[in-house]
Amino acid sequence: MNAFPDAAAKIYDDNIVRLVPGYALALDLMGSILTAQLSGPCRILVPGCGTGSEILVIAKCLPEARFVAVEPSVGMLDLARQRVGTAGLSERVEFVCGYLDDVGEQGAFDAATVSLVLHFLPDDGTKQAFLAGVAQRLAPNAPLLLLDAPNIAFDESALRQWLLIQHGPGVPPPDAVIKRMQTLWHRAAPERIAELLARAGFAEQATFFQTLGYVGTSALRRLPSVD
Ligand SMILES: C[S@@+](CC[C@H](N)C(=O)[O-])C[C@H]1O[C@@H](n2cnc3c(N)ncnc32)[C@H](O)[C@@H]1O
Repeated sequence: MNAFPDAAAKIYDDNIVRLVPGYALALDLMGSILTAQLSGPCRILVPGCGTGSEILVIAKCLPEARFVAVEPSVGMLDLARQRVGTAGLSERVEFVCGYLDDVGEQGAFDAATVSLVLHFLPDDGTKQAFLAGVAQRLAPNAPLLLLDAPNIAFDESALRQWLLIQHGPGVPPPDAVIKRMQTLWHRAAPERIAELLARAGFAEQATFFQTLGYVGTSALRRLPSVD
């Protein structure tokens, strides 16, 4: 369900930086925020790790952190494994080919990152169940860093122009990218995302990043989740 096709992995890393304005900055900020909140040995849950980009950034910031990387696409996970190995981080990352339900440990993680995953999940209970699943696996007060594409108003012509400048092999033309955002993605309103987070048990929500169509939200696991 929603797993990227294996073939998508080959072009993913080249394309994502040309599709999401500020993608690298968003990941750098995740590293900075977690550095301020965690220290020493800790465990970080990364559902939808894709090709492992957030792990590579955060691992540098937190040298004693260990990761559980969850990813349903074999192609994406293989590339994550390869990149993590090249960076000399294999000992610190456990890979799970599947979904959150395949990670049994409840309350075992000191933080979680969810980067560019939630907008692929429909708001028919699927987003809520996913966030509740993340919350259940976090210890009390553990931070969640969410990078999402919510349904916010933004300067569409600025995004179109940015995409035009970035355009290159394998990247669809700007209008196709924007149409995909508008028609294929499940972009919930920011208020709805806030409600889903609160219902899942996350408090102290704050924005740490915002660009053309993308928002980074930090929150803390506080309340028992409803699901
Ligand atoms: C746009 S990529 C993001 C990858 C990475 N987190 C990043 O920021 O570059 C979305 C990833 O989420 C995975 N995915 C889709 N649905 C998922 C789910 N329900 N649970 C976990 N991962 C999922 C896809 O296979 C894909 O690799």
